[in-house]
Amino acid sequence: MNSSSLLHKTFNKEKIDRPPMWLMRQAGRYLPEYREIRKSTSSFLDMCYTPEKAAEVTLQPLRRYNFDVAILFSDILVIPHALGMKVEFIAGTGPVLGRPSEEELKIFSEKCQHYSNNAEHLDQILNPIYETVRRVKQELREDQALMGFCGAPWTVLLYMLDEKPSKGSDRTREIAYKTPELFDTLMESLVEASAHYLCSQIEAGADALQIFDSWALQVPHTLYDRAVKQPLYRLCEKVKEKHPNIPIILFPRGLSEQKLIDLVKDNQGCFDGLSIDYTVDPKWAADMLQDHIVVQGNLDPTVMLSTPEVIKEETEKLLTIMTQKPGYIFNFGHGILPHVPVEHVAVLAETVQSWKSGSVS
Ligand code: CP3
Repeated sequence: MNSSSLLHKTFNKEKIDRPPMWLMRQAGRYLPEYREIRKSTSSFLDMCYTPEKAAEVTLQPLRRYNFDVAILFSDILVIPHALGMKVEFIAGTGPVLGRPSEEELKIFSEKCQHYSNNAEHLDQILNPIYETVRRVKQELREDQALMGFCGAPWTVLLYMLDEKPSKGSDRTREIAYKTPELFDTLMESLVEASAHYLCSQIEAGADALQIFDSWALQVPHTLYDRAVKQPLYRLCEKVKEKHPNIPIILFPRGLSEQKLIDLVKDNQGCFDGLSIDYTVDPKWAADMLQDHIVVQGNLDPTVMLSTPEVIKEETEKLLTIMTQKPGYIFNFGHGILPHVPVEHVAVLAETVQSWKSGSVS
């Protein structure tokens, strides 16, 4: 990573005037210029696999708001797609993955196992995404950085087996208890394929990585180690074996504070940053986590639907707490909502970018 980027300085725990900022889902439907390009593509996945368009939408939020980090435009579900699963995005419904029966799943898991170790097969589908990374990287300034990403195995598996994690995870949990071998094989295939995908993003120019475990909150305690913690560690370790100096941020949404502490304590250097969701007390994170790891987050994204005054006030409250020590990245506690007014994001960017650490206004 370029040593003059704000993100690099943050991971180096250098003292900087204000934290780097980016927003989860910053390239998306709240931007009219995104909607314009989206209209010109037949499907969302097509857009992910068209480097010219994907690079353009990756850069749009940086042009408009001068953010410090670009996040690659893609989706966590390109991995099941590359593993041979049918993946569709239906407007108004979200992702549809076809809920394979248990019989189909057994066959699919064998295919998955085979494909996950077959770089040539994966790259045939994922190559356009690496091309997007190369194109974006060329356009960034020295002080900006490019974030690659993937979904965590647990979260991706929930989309594969339950389809709508927001409605529950019953089927995935049932499979974990009833057919543990099938569950573990699918998990391991996701670890393998995701590690290859992340390493390839780095080799194409990604400066840092984020792993989204957006549905970690669905994991029962008894499966936590097997379904969340160990797969996350294995995935990070595999990437670090090849690329030890690329920082990795985890976003395990909804984990208890005790689990967050344990995750950081047992980490042994396999990840470098923790993105906290909006339920976590930032003061607690500053006191308990920030000495050990870079902390990212956690403005409630619905604050953006209020007024410029409230946006400024809530952001400054968070900045005051989190910028007492080095090692903080400004972000939301989950993704930006599609109906946020663009002027409100401008107020947010202005507030963070004019911040001076140590100043309380
Ligand atoms: O700007 C960025 O953050 C980069 C691109 C990005 C997208 N998805 C583009 C996208 C990233 C990092 C993701 C991650 C992702 N995808 C997650 C983890 C983050 C989170 O929000 O928890 C998850 C769970 C998904 C799966 C997914 N993709 C869902 C559930 C949906 C439908 C819901 C929705 O928001 O529409 C998508 C589609 C999707 N991915 C869109 C975008 C911009 C909207 C599709 C469109 O434009 O029609």
